[in-house]
Amino acid sequence: MINKILLLALAIHNTCLAQDTSSVSNTDSAFTATASATRTSSTPQVPTGTPVAGDYGGRYRPQVHFSVPRYFMNDPNGMFLDDNGTWHLYYQYNPTAAVAGNQHWGHATSTDLYHWVNQPIALFPPADDTFVFSGSAVVDVNNTSGFFPNQTNGVVAIYTLAQYPDGNPGPQTQAIAYSFDNGYTFIPYEGNPVIPSESSQFRDPKVIWYEDHWVMVIAYAQDFAIGIFTSPNLIDWTPQSNFSHHGLLGLQYECPNLVRMPHVDQNGDRQDDVWLMYISINPGAPLGGSIGEYFPGTFNGTHFEAFDAAARIADFGKDNYAGQFFYGVPDDEYPVFMAWASNWQYTQVVPTAEEGWRSAMSLPRRTYLTEVERLGWKLVSEPYDLEPVLGETIASNDSLANGTMAIDYSEVASNALYWEVNVTGIPDSGVPATATLNFTFLSPQTGESVSSGYYFGGDTPFFVDRSGARGFSNVFFTDKFSTNSLRDGSTWSVSGVIDRSILEVFVDGGVESATNTFFTTQPLTLMVLSTADFPGDMAASVRVVALESAWAEMEDEDGIVYGNVTDTGSMRVRDMFGRV
Ligand code: FRU
Repeated sequence: MINKILLLALAIHNTCLAQDTSSVSNTDSAFTATASATRTSSTPQVPTGTPVAGDYGGRYRPQVHFSVPRYFMNDPNGMFLDDNGTWHLYYQYNPTAAVAGNQHWGHATSTDLYHWVNQPIALFPPADDTFVFSGSAVVDVNNTSGFFPNQTNGVVAIYTLAQYPDGNPGPQTQAIAYSFDNGYTFIPYEGNPVIPSESSQFRDPKVIWYEDHWVMVIAYAQDFAIGIFTSPNLIDWTPQSNFSHHGLLGLQYECPNLVRMPHVDQNGDRQDDVWLMYISINPGAPLGGSIGEYFPGTFNGTHFEAFDAAARIADFGKDNYAGQFFYGVPDDEYPVFMAWASNWQYTQVVPTAEEGWRSAMSLPRRTYLTEVERLGWKLVSEPYDLEPVLGETIASNDSLANGTMAIDYSEVASNALYWEVNVTGIPDSGVPATATLNFTFLSPQTGESVSSGYYFGGDTPFFVDRSGARGFSNVFFTDKFSTNSLRDGSTWSVSGVIDRSILEVFVDGGVESATNTFFTTQPLTLMVLSTADFPGDMAASVRVVALESAWAEMEDEDGIVYGNVTDTGSMRVRDMFGRV
C-alpha cells in the first residue's frame, strides 16, 4: 500500500515537472511514473480508427517539419517506403499527456516527406502494465513470415514490449505485428514475444533484409552492446554477434541502425557501398543528454566490423536523437534518415505544451558517406528535396563581399525560411581570422535572436547560438554549439532551415549538420546576413526562400488539422491501454 502511495506521488511529481521549466526528467523515471499512475475517470481516452486532431497554427509549431498533433512524441519508429511510394512514419506516442509515458505507435504518411497526413494510432499496448517501445517495420515481399499468402506488400512491425509490473521496469521483449493494408492497421502476432527476455534493458529492434535473410540490430542498453540477430522468417531469431563498447558510451546505447551506405569519394564518384552502424546514446552525451554516433565498416550478414576505432558524432547540435533510416529505399538511392528533434534532458519541460504538444521530427535527410581531409569518414546529410515546400525567393545577392543584407520576413505566412550561401574565391592562404559570415534571426519587438556563423581563418570554427531566445530557460538547455568545418579548395557553403522553433544548418553540403530547437517569446521575423574581412576575390552568393506551410493547407475551417478521418465510420474509443 505504501509502495502504491509512493508511486502515485512520483506520478504526480512527474506531472508537475511538465509545468516546471527549471526541472529535468528522463526516460526511465517518466515511464516508471506513468506506469504506476492509477487510472482515473478523468484520464483522457485513446481514439482508434481516427487520428488525434491538432492545432498546427501555434507560434512554436514547425510548418515544414512533422510534429505530433497533440500530447507527446519521441523516437521515430518503423519508418518505411511502401510500394505505392508513400512514406510511413510511426512514432513513440503518449496519447494522453504532453510528457513521456504510456507509449503507443502514432502514425503519419507522406508522399514527399514534408506534407504529412496524421493517421490513426497503429500499435496499442497489449496489457495495462506494458508499453510499446521503439522498433522498425519491413515489407515482407517474399512472404517469408507466412502471414501474406496473397500479397507482396505485407508489412511487419518489430518492436519492444516494455513491461512495468507494479510500475517498476520489468522485462523488455521483442514482438511483431503484421499488416495487410500497407501499414495502416496491424494485427499482433499471437506467438509474441518472438524474442523473450528477462532483461529490462533490451530494446529497439531495427530490421533489414540482407541477401537471403533478415538481420536485426538491437540494444543491450546498459551493457553497451548492439546484438545482431538473424532470421529466415521474422519469427525465429538467432543471436549471431555483438558489437560492443565502441565509441562514446554515455549511460546507455539505444535505437541502433545498421544500413548499407553509398560511399561517394572526394571527387564525387560513387564507390562500392559500405555499411554503417548508427547508435543513439542517452543520457551522457558530451553536450549532455542525447546524441547519435556512427561507425562506418563492413558487414558479412552476421558480423559488423568498424573500419577504425573513432567515435563520430552525427549532429553537432543538441536536438537530434534516436534517428532511423527508412526501410525500402532502393539501393541505388541515398538512404533517408529522420530523427527526433529533442533531447531527453529537457524534452518534457519545453514550452510547446502551452500549445498542447511536445516534439517534432528533424527534416528528412538524404545521407551518404564520404571521406574528408584529415578526418577520413564522414556521414553527410542534407535535406531531402525541399522543392514541395519552397516558395518565393525573398532575397538574393550574387556577390556579397563585405556587406550586410537585412531581410524582413514578417510577411512570410509560415514564418519559416530556407537559405543557402555559397562562398567562392577563398585563397589558399592569407585568410584573416576575422573573415566571417554571420547570420542572425531576430525579433525586432523583443530583440531576441538565434544566430550562426563561420570563421574562414584559423581553426575554421562554425557556431550556432540560441542564447538570445528567452522563451525557455533550463540549466540543461545548453545554448551554444560549434564544430570545425575544414575546407577543401576555394569554395565553402552553408544552408539551413529555420521553422518557428527549430533551426537546422548544413555546413559545406551537409558534411556537418546541427539540429537545434529554440523558444522565443515573440516570432523571429528579421534575418541579418553579413560578411566581413573577405580578402581578394572572395565573395558569397546568397539566396533566401520563403517556405510554404505544409500544414496550413490541411487545416479545416476551424483551423484544426484532423488528419485522415475517412475511416471514422468505424471509430471506437479506447481507454489509455487501447481497450475498447
Ligand atoms: C529512446 C527510447 C528507446 C525506447 C523509447 C521509449 O528515446 O528511450 O530506447 O524504446 O525511447 O519511448
